[in-house]
Amino acid sequence: MGNINLDTDFYESEDPIWNPALLTIPVPGIRRMVNLASDLDDVIHLSIGQPDFKPPSHVIQAGVDALNAGQTGYTMDAGLPELLEALADYYSERSQRPLSPENIMVTTGATEAIYLALTATSAPGREFIVPDPSFMLYGPLIRMNGGTVHAIPTRAENNHQLDPQEVIDAMGPNTFAVILNSPSNPTGTLYPRETVEAIVEEAAYRGIHVISDEVYDHLIYDGKEYPSVLSCCSDLDHVMVISSFSKTFSMAGMRIGWLIGSQGAIKKLRRYHMFTTTVANTPCQWAGVAALRGSRNFIDTMVEEYQHRRDRLVELVGQTPHLTGYRPDGAFYLFPSLPEGVDGANVALKLLRETGVCTIPGDTFGEAGKHALRISYSTSLDQIEEAFERIIPWMKKQNFG
Ligand SMILES: Cc1ncc(COP(=O)(O)O)c(C=O)c1O
Repeated sequence: MGNINLDTDFYESEDPIWNPALLTIPVPGIRRMVNLASDLDDVIHLSIGQPDFKPPSHVIQAGVDALNAGQTGYTMDAGLPELLEALADYYSERSQRPLSPENIMVTTGATEAIYLALTATSAPGREFIVPDPSFMLYGPLIRMNGGTVHAIPTRAENNHQLDPQEVIDAMGPNTFAVILNSPSNPTGTLYPRETVEAIVEEAAYRGIHVISDEVYDHLIYDGKEYPSVLSCCSDLDHVMVISSFSKTFSMAGMRIGWLIGSQGAIKKLRRYHMFTTTVANTPCQWAGVAALRGSRNFIDTMVEEYQHRRDRLVELVGQTPHLTGYRPDGAFYLFPSLPEGVDGANVALKLLRETGVCTIPGDTFGEAGKHALRISYSTSLDQIEEAFERIIPWMKKQNFG
Protein backbone atom coordinates (compact mmCIF):
# COMPACT_ATOMS: atom_id res chain seq x y z
CA MET A 1 0.00 0.00 0.00
CA GLY A 2 1.37 3.46 -0.94
CA ASN A 3 2.45 5.98 1.65
CA ILE A 4 -0.11 8.48 2.77
CA ASN A 5 0.82 12.12 3.39
CA LEU A 6 0.44 12.64 7.12
CA ASP A 7 -0.86 15.99 8.29
CA THR A 8 2.30 17.54 9.65
CA ASP A 9 0.59 19.93 12.06
CA PHE A 10 -0.09 16.97 14.32
CA TYR A 11 3.62 16.68 14.96
CA GLU A 12 5.05 18.97 17.58
CA SER A 13 8.35 20.81 17.24
CA GLU A 14 11.03 20.33 19.86
CA ASP A 15 10.57 23.68 21.59
CA PRO A 16 13.47 24.26 23.99
CA ILE A 17 11.34 25.74 26.79
CA TRP A 18 9.94 22.33 27.64
CA ASN A 19 11.52 19.75 29.89
CA PRO A 20 13.01 17.15 27.50
CA ALA A 21 11.18 14.50 29.55
CA LEU A 22 8.05 15.58 27.67
CA LEU A 23 9.55 14.05 24.52
CA THR A 24 8.67 10.66 25.98
CA ILE A 25 5.01 11.48 25.39
CA PRO A 26 4.15 10.37 21.85
CA VAL A 27 1.77 12.14 19.50
CA PRO A 28 -1.47 10.51 20.62
CA GLY A 29 -2.68 8.17 17.87
CA ILE A 30 -6.20 8.39 19.19
CA ARG A 31 -6.34 12.20 19.02
CA ARG A 32 -4.84 12.14 15.53
CA MET A 33 -7.58 9.88 14.23
CA VAL A 34 -10.38 11.66 16.05
CA ASN A 35 -9.18 15.08 14.83
CA LEU A 36 -9.09 13.82 11.25
CA ALA A 37 -12.51 12.26 11.65
CA SER A 38 -13.97 15.56 12.84
CA ASP A 39 -13.26 17.02 9.38
CA LEU A 40 -15.18 14.25 7.61
CA ASP A 41 -18.91 13.60 7.21
CA ASP A 42 -20.76 10.43 8.11
CA VAL A 43 -18.05 8.89 10.28
CA ILE A 44 -18.68 5.72 12.30
CA HIS A 45 -16.51 5.62 15.38
CA LEU A 46 -15.08 2.28 16.40
CA SER A 47 -12.47 4.30 18.24
CA ILE A 48 -14.25 5.11 21.47
CA GLY A 49 -12.63 4.31 24.82
CA GLN A 50 -15.53 5.02 27.11
CA PRO A 51 -18.89 3.36 27.74
CA ASP A 52 -21.86 4.52 25.68
CA PHE A 53 -24.38 4.03 28.53
CA LYS A 54 -25.94 6.59 30.84
CA PRO A 55 -24.79 6.10 34.44
CA PRO A 56 -27.46 4.73 36.83
CA SER A 57 -29.90 7.50 37.85
CA HIS A 58 -29.40 6.93 41.61
CA VAL A 59 -25.69 7.64 41.09
CA ILE A 60 -26.33 10.91 39.23
CA GLN A 61 -28.89 11.87 41.87
CA ALA A 62 -26.37 11.32 44.68
CA GLY A 63 -23.95 13.71 42.94
CA VAL A 64 -26.70 16.32 42.49
CA ASP A 65 -27.83 15.89 46.12
CA ALA A 66 -24.24 16.36 47.30
CA LEU A 67 -24.00 19.62 45.35
CA ASN A 68 -27.32 20.85 46.73
CA ALA A 69 -26.25 19.92 50.25
CA GLY A 70 -23.17 22.12 49.90
CA GLN A 71 -20.67 19.30 49.51
CA THR A 72 -18.44 21.52 47.41
CA GLY A 73 -15.33 21.84 49.57
CA TYR A 74 -12.18 19.68 49.76
CA THR A 75 -12.38 16.25 51.32
CA MET A 76 -9.54 14.83 53.40
CA ASP A 77 -6.54 14.08 51.18
CA ALA A 78 -7.00 10.30 51.08
CA GLY A 79 -10.59 10.77 49.96
CA LEU A 80 -14.09 11.13 51.34
CA PRO A 81 -14.19 8.89 54.45
CA GLU A 82 -17.59 7.45 53.40
CA LEU A 83 -16.14 6.46 50.01
CA LEU A 84 -13.00 4.95 51.55
CA GLU A 85 -15.24 2.86 53.85
CA ALA A 86 -17.46 1.80 50.95
CA LEU A 87 -14.42 0.80 48.86
CA ALA A 88 -12.86 -1.12 51.77
CA ASP A 89 -16.14 -3.06 52.30
CA TYR A 90 -16.57 -3.72 48.60
CA TYR A 91 -13.01 -4.96 48.00
CA SER A 92 -12.86 -6.96 51.24
CA GLU A 93 -15.87 -8.91 50.08
CA ARG A 94 -14.81 -9.20 46.46
CA SER A 95 -11.24 -10.28 47.11
CA GLN A 96 -11.89 -12.23 50.33
CA ARG A 97 -9.14 -10.26 52.04
CA PRO A 98 -9.68 -7.77 54.85
CA LEU A 99 -8.90 -4.26 53.62
CA SER A 100 -9.18 -1.07 55.64
CA PRO A 101 -9.64 2.53 54.45
CA GLU A 102 -5.92 3.03 55.24
CA ASN A 103 -5.15 0.73 52.28
CA ILE A 104 -6.93 3.05 49.84
CA MET A 105 -6.50 6.50 48.33
CA VAL A 106 -9.11 8.17 46.11
CA THR A 107 -7.71 9.85 42.98
CA THR A 108 -8.87 11.87 39.99
CA GLY A 109 -9.71 8.86 37.87
CA ALA A 110 -7.48 5.81 37.49
CA THR A 111 -5.29 8.11 35.40
CA GLU A 112 -4.05 9.98 38.46
CA ALA A 113 -3.47 6.73 40.32
CA ILE A 114 -1.38 5.42 37.39
CA TYR A 115 0.50 8.70 37.26
CA LEU A 116 1.27 8.63 40.98
CA ALA A 117 2.23 4.95 41.07
CA LEU A 118 4.56 5.15 38.08
CA THR A 119 6.16 8.54 38.55
CA ALA A 120 6.70 7.94 42.27
CA THR A 121 8.60 4.72 41.57
CA SER A 122 10.25 5.06 38.15
CA ALA A 123 13.91 6.11 38.32
CA PRO A 124 17.11 5.57 36.33
CA GLY A 125 18.26 1.97 36.63
CA ARG A 126 14.77 0.59 37.28
CA GLU A 127 13.13 -1.61 34.70
CA PHE A 128 9.38 -2.15 34.32
CA ILE A 129 8.00 -5.20 32.53
CA VAL A 130 5.04 -4.11 30.40
CA PRO A 131 2.94 -6.21 28.00
CA ASP A 132 3.01 -4.88 24.43
CA PRO A 133 0.49 -3.72 23.24
CA SER A 134 -0.71 -1.94 26.35
CA PHE A 135 -2.58 1.19 27.48
CA MET A 136 -0.51 4.09 26.22
CA LEU A 137 0.12 5.88 29.54
CA TYR A 138 2.44 3.34 31.14
CA GLY A 139 5.55 3.52 28.93
CA PRO A 140 5.85 7.33 28.72
CA LEU A 141 5.30 7.82 32.48
CA ILE A 142 8.03 5.26 33.20
CA ARG A 143 10.47 6.73 30.68
CA MET A 144 9.77 10.32 31.70
CA ASN A 145 11.31 9.57 35.07
CA GLY A 146 14.32 7.70 33.79
CA GLY A 147 13.05 4.13 34.12
CA THR A 148 13.12 1.68 31.23
CA VAL A 149 10.44 -0.51 29.72
CA HIS A 150 10.97 -4.20 29.03
CA ALA A 151 8.17 -4.99 26.58
CA ILE A 152 6.64 -8.46 26.41
CA PRO A 153 4.92 -8.80 23.02
CA THR A 154 1.58 -10.61 22.80
CA ARG A 155 -0.09 -11.88 19.62
CA ALA A 156 -3.62 -12.13 18.17
CA GLU A 157 -3.01 -15.82 17.26
CA ASN A 158 -2.62 -16.43 20.99
CA ASN A 159 -5.61 -14.26 22.03
CA HIS A 160 -3.00 -11.75 23.22
CA GLN A 161 -2.49 -13.86 26.32
CA LEU A 162 0.57 -13.11 28.41
CA ASP A 163 2.84 -16.10 28.89
CA PRO A 164 3.71 -16.04 32.62
CA GLN A 165 6.97 -17.88 31.97
CA GLU A 166 8.02 -15.17 29.52
CA VAL A 167 7.35 -12.56 32.20
CA ILE A 168 9.27 -14.53 34.81
CA ASP A 169 12.19 -15.05 32.40
CA ALA A 170 12.28 -11.30 31.82
CA MET A 171 12.70 -10.58 35.54
CA GLY A 172 16.26 -9.58 36.37
CA PRO A 173 18.28 -7.69 38.96
CA ASN A 174 17.04 -4.31 37.66
CA THR A 175 13.38 -5.24 37.43
CA PHE A 176 11.39 -2.98 39.68
CA ALA A 177 7.82 -3.84 38.69
CA VAL A 178 5.51 -5.72 36.37
CA ILE A 179 2.54 -3.80 34.99
CA LEU A 180 -0.63 -5.81 34.45
CA ASN A 181 -3.88 -4.66 32.87
CA SER A 182 -6.51 -7.37 32.69
CA PRO A 183 -8.83 -7.21 30.87
CA SER A 184 -6.55 -5.23 28.65
CA ASN A 185 -6.94 -2.05 26.72
CA PRO A 186 -6.36 -2.49 23.72
CA THR A 187 -6.81 -6.29 23.44
CA GLY A 188 -9.73 -7.15 25.75
CA THR A 189 -7.68 -10.12 26.96
CA LEU A 190 -8.49 -11.47 30.42
CA TYR A 191 -5.59 -13.20 32.17
CA PRO A 192 -6.61 -16.45 33.84
CA ARG A 193 -5.92 -16.98 37.55
CA GLU A 194 -2.91 -19.24 36.79
CA THR A 195 -1.22 -16.41 34.89
CA VAL A 196 -1.85 -13.77 37.56
CA GLU A 197 -0.87 -16.10 40.40
CA ALA A 198 2.34 -17.25 38.72
CA ILE A 199 3.47 -13.67 38.08
CA VAL A 200 2.44 -12.33 41.48
CA GLU A 201 4.07 -15.21 43.37
CA GLU A 202 7.36 -14.97 41.53
CA ALA A 203 7.39 -11.18 41.84
CA ALA A 204 6.76 -11.38 45.61
CA TYR A 205 9.55 -13.94 45.96
CA ARG A 206 11.99 -11.59 44.22
CA GLY A 207 10.75 -8.36 45.84
CA ILE A 208 9.42 -7.07 42.52
CA HIS A 209 6.28 -4.93 42.56
CA VAL A 210 3.10 -5.68 40.63
CA ILE A 211 1.11 -2.63 39.54
CA SER A 212 -2.26 -3.80 38.31
CA ASP A 213 -4.64 -1.57 36.35
CA GLU A 214 -8.06 -3.16 36.86
CA VAL A 215 -10.40 -0.51 35.43
CA TYR A 216 -12.25 -3.12 33.32
CA ASP A 217 -12.64 -5.64 36.15
CA HIS A 218 -16.45 -5.79 35.80
CA LEU A 219 -16.57 -6.02 32.02
CA ILE A 220 -16.07 -9.78 31.87
CA TYR A 221 -18.06 -12.08 29.55
CA ASP A 222 -19.42 -15.63 29.50
CA GLY A 223 -19.70 -15.61 33.31
CA LYS A 224 -15.93 -15.97 33.68
CA GLU A 225 -14.28 -15.36 37.03
CA TYR A 226 -12.21 -12.20 37.50
CA PRO A 227 -8.84 -12.95 39.10
CA SER A 228 -7.81 -9.63 40.61
CA VAL A 229 -4.23 -9.30 41.80
CA LEU A 230 -5.82 -8.62 45.21
CA SER A 231 -7.13 -12.17 45.31
CA CYS A 232 -3.82 -13.68 44.11
CA CYS A 233 -1.29 -12.10 46.49
CA SER A 234 -0.36 -13.14 50.00
CA ASP A 235 0.16 -9.57 51.23
CA LEU A 236 0.05 -6.04 49.85
CA ASP A 237 3.75 -5.29 50.39
CA HIS A 238 4.63 -5.27 46.70
CA VAL A 239 1.25 -4.74 45.15
CA MET A 240 -0.65 -1.68 43.91
CA VAL A 241 -4.11 -2.14 42.43
CA ILE A 242 -5.72 0.69 40.50
CA SER A 243 -9.30 1.09 39.38
CA SER A 244 -12.09 3.64 38.93
CA PHE A 245 -15.79 4.16 38.35
CA SER A 246 -15.18 5.25 34.75
CA LYS A 247 -15.98 2.00 32.97
CA THR A 248 -17.97 0.04 35.56
CA PHE A 249 -20.59 2.74 36.13
CA SER A 250 -20.05 4.72 32.93
CA MET A 251 -18.76 7.68 34.95
CA ALA A 252 -15.59 8.53 32.98
CA GLY A 253 -16.19 12.28 33.09
CA MET A 254 -16.84 12.27 36.82
CA ARG A 255 -13.16 11.40 37.34
CA ILE A 256 -13.12 9.20 40.43
CA GLY A 257 -10.55 6.42 40.73
CA TRP A 258 -8.42 4.89 43.46
CA LEU A 259 -5.27 3.07 44.37
CA ILE A 260 -5.08 0.16 46.81
CA GLY A 261 -1.80 -0.80 48.45
CA SER A 262 -0.02 -1.35 51.72
CA GLN A 263 -0.63 1.26 54.40
CA GLY A 264 3.00 2.41 53.99
CA ALA A 265 2.59 2.91 50.24
CA ILE A 266 -0.67 4.79 50.71
CA LYS A 267 0.91 7.11 53.30
CA LYS A 268 3.73 7.93 50.91
CA LEU A 269 1.46 8.41 47.90
CA ARG A 270 -0.98 10.60 49.86
CA ARG A 271 1.74 13.20 50.23
CA TYR A 272 2.46 13.07 46.51
CA HIS A 273 -1.28 13.26 45.75
CA MET A 274 -1.45 16.52 47.77
CA PHE A 275 1.19 17.92 45.44
CA THR A 276 -0.65 16.90 42.27
CA THR A 277 -4.45 17.25 42.52
CA THR A 278 -4.91 17.69 46.33
CA VAL A 279 -8.19 15.75 46.39
CA ALA A 280 -10.65 14.24 43.95
CA ASN A 281 -13.96 15.89 43.02
CA THR A 282 -16.16 15.94 46.16
CA PRO A 283 -19.75 15.61 44.80
CA CYS A 284 -18.61 12.85 42.45
CA GLN A 285 -17.10 10.96 45.39
CA TRP A 286 -20.61 10.99 46.90
CA ALA A 287 -21.92 9.64 43.60
CA GLY A 288 -19.33 6.88 43.98
CA VAL A 289 -20.64 5.98 47.45
CA ALA A 290 -24.11 5.58 45.92
CA ALA A 291 -22.67 3.43 43.11
CA LEU A 292 -21.01 1.02 45.55
CA ARG A 293 -23.84 0.92 48.11
CA GLY A 294 -26.71 0.74 45.59
CA SER A 295 -28.03 -1.83 43.15
CA ARG A 296 -25.61 -3.34 40.63
CA ASN A 297 -28.31 -4.22 38.07
CA PHE A 298 -26.85 -1.58 35.80
CA ILE A 299 -23.61 -3.55 35.48
CA ASP A 300 -25.41 -6.79 34.59
CA THR A 301 -27.43 -5.10 31.84
CA MET A 302 -24.36 -3.38 30.45
CA VAL A 303 -22.26 -6.55 30.45
CA GLU A 304 -25.02 -8.48 28.68
CA GLU A 305 -25.15 -5.84 25.94
CA TYR A 306 -21.36 -5.75 25.52
CA GLN A 307 -21.21 -9.53 25.32
CA HIS A 308 -23.80 -9.49 22.57
CA ARG A 309 -21.78 -6.90 20.63
CA ARG A 310 -18.53 -8.78 21.25
CA ASP A 311 -20.04 -11.95 19.76
CA ARG A 312 -21.21 -10.15 16.63
CA LEU A 313 -17.93 -8.25 16.22
CA VAL A 314 -15.94 -11.49 16.42
CA GLU A 315 -18.11 -12.91 13.62
CA LEU A 316 -17.71 -9.79 11.48
CA VAL A 317 -13.94 -9.68 11.94
CA GLY A 318 -13.87 -13.37 11.01
CA GLN A 319 -15.58 -12.47 7.71
CA THR A 320 -13.17 -9.61 6.94
CA PRO A 321 -10.29 -10.32 4.56
CA HIS A 322 -6.81 -9.51 5.93
CA LEU A 323 -7.90 -9.35 9.59
CA THR A 324 -6.99 -12.05 12.11
CA GLY A 325 -9.28 -11.85 15.10
CA TYR A 326 -9.82 -13.85 18.29
CA ARG A 327 -12.39 -13.92 21.07
CA PRO A 328 -11.65 -11.40 23.83
CA ASP A 329 -13.13 -12.12 27.27
CA GLY A 330 -13.42 -8.58 28.60
CA ALA A 331 -13.38 -4.79 28.21
CA PHE A 332 -14.84 -3.49 24.92
CA TYR A 333 -11.96 -3.84 22.49
CA LEU A 334 -10.71 -6.23 19.85
CA PHE A 335 -7.19 -5.92 18.45
CA PRO A 336 -7.14 -7.89 15.19
CA SER A 337 -3.90 -8.13 13.26
CA LEU A 338 -3.23 -7.27 9.65
CA PRO A 339 -0.90 -9.35 7.50
CA GLU A 340 2.77 -9.26 8.54
CA GLY A 341 4.49 -6.08 7.34
CA VAL A 342 1.29 -4.08 6.73
CA ASP A 343 1.39 -0.76 8.57
CA GLY A 344 -1.70 -0.40 10.78
CA ALA A 345 -1.38 3.40 10.89
CA ASN A 346 -1.57 3.64 7.09
CA VAL A 347 -4.50 1.23 6.98
CA ALA A 348 -6.41 3.10 9.70
CA LEU A 349 -5.90 6.46 7.93
CA LYS A 350 -6.86 5.14 4.51
CA LEU A 351 -9.84 3.27 5.93
CA LEU A 352 -11.05 6.45 7.62
CA ARG A 353 -10.59 8.61 4.54
CA GLU A 354 -12.14 6.14 2.11
CA THR A 355 -14.96 4.60 4.16
CA GLY A 356 -15.50 6.97 7.10
CA VAL A 357 -14.85 4.22 9.67
CA CYS A 358 -12.59 5.39 12.47
CA THR A 359 -10.43 2.77 14.20
CA ILE A 360 -7.22 3.31 16.17
CA PRO A 361 -3.81 2.35 14.73
CA GLY A 362 -2.27 -0.45 16.77
CA ASP A 363 1.09 1.28 17.17
CA THR A 364 -0.59 3.73 19.56
CA PHE A 365 -0.24 0.91 22.09
CA GLY A 366 3.35 -0.15 21.39
CA GLU A 367 5.74 -1.57 18.82
CA ALA A 368 4.06 -4.97 18.81
CA GLY A 369 0.81 -3.37 17.63
CA LYS A 370 2.30 -1.96 14.42
CA HIS A 371 0.40 -4.40 12.23
CA ALA A 372 -2.93 -4.18 14.02
CA LEU A 373 -5.99 -2.01 14.58
CA ARG A 374 -7.94 -1.40 17.77
CA ILE A 375 -11.66 -1.73 17.29
CA SER A 376 -13.93 -0.59 20.12
CA TYR A 377 -17.43 -1.99 20.47
CA SER A 378 -18.56 0.71 22.83
CA THR A 379 -21.07 1.75 20.23
CA SER A 380 -24.46 0.38 19.12
CA LEU A 381 -24.82 -2.90 17.27
CA ASP A 382 -26.35 -0.96 14.35
CA GLN A 383 -23.23 1.17 14.06
CA ILE A 384 -21.01 -1.91 14.24
CA GLU A 385 -23.03 -3.62 11.45
CA GLU A 386 -22.91 -0.51 9.28
CA ALA A 387 -19.18 -0.09 9.85
CA PHE A 388 -18.50 -3.63 8.61
CA GLU A 389 -20.77 -3.12 5.59
CA ARG A 390 -18.12 -0.56 4.64
CA ILE A 391 -15.00 -2.33 5.96
CA ILE A 392 -15.51 -5.78 4.37
CA PRO A 393 -15.83 -4.64 0.70
CA TRP A 394 -13.00 -2.14 1.24
CA MET A 395 -10.69 -4.83 2.63
CA LYS A 396 -11.56 -7.13 -0.29
CA LYS A 397 -10.16 -4.48 -2.64
CA GLN A 398 -6.86 -4.08 -0.78
CA ASN A 399 -3.79 -5.76 -2.13
CA PHE A 400 -1.32 -6.00 0.71
CA GLY A 401 0.94 -8.43 -1.13
C1 LIG B 1 -6.52 0.50 30.86
C2 LIG B 1 -6.99 1.84 31.27
N1 LIG B 1 -6.56 2.35 32.43
C3 LIG B 1 -6.96 3.56 32.84
C4 LIG B 1 -7.82 4.32 32.10
C5 LIG B 1 -8.22 5.67 32.60
O1 LIG B 1 -9.31 5.57 33.46
P1 LIG B 1 -9.92 6.83 34.20
O2 LIG B 1 -11.00 7.38 33.33
O3 LIG B 1 -10.49 6.27 35.47
O4 LIG B 1 -8.85 7.80 34.46
C6 LIG B 1 -8.31 3.83 30.89
C7 LIG B 1 -9.21 4.65 30.06
O5 LIG B 1 -9.44 4.40 28.90
C8 LIG B 1 -7.88 2.55 30.47
O6 LIG B 1 -8.31 2.02 29.31
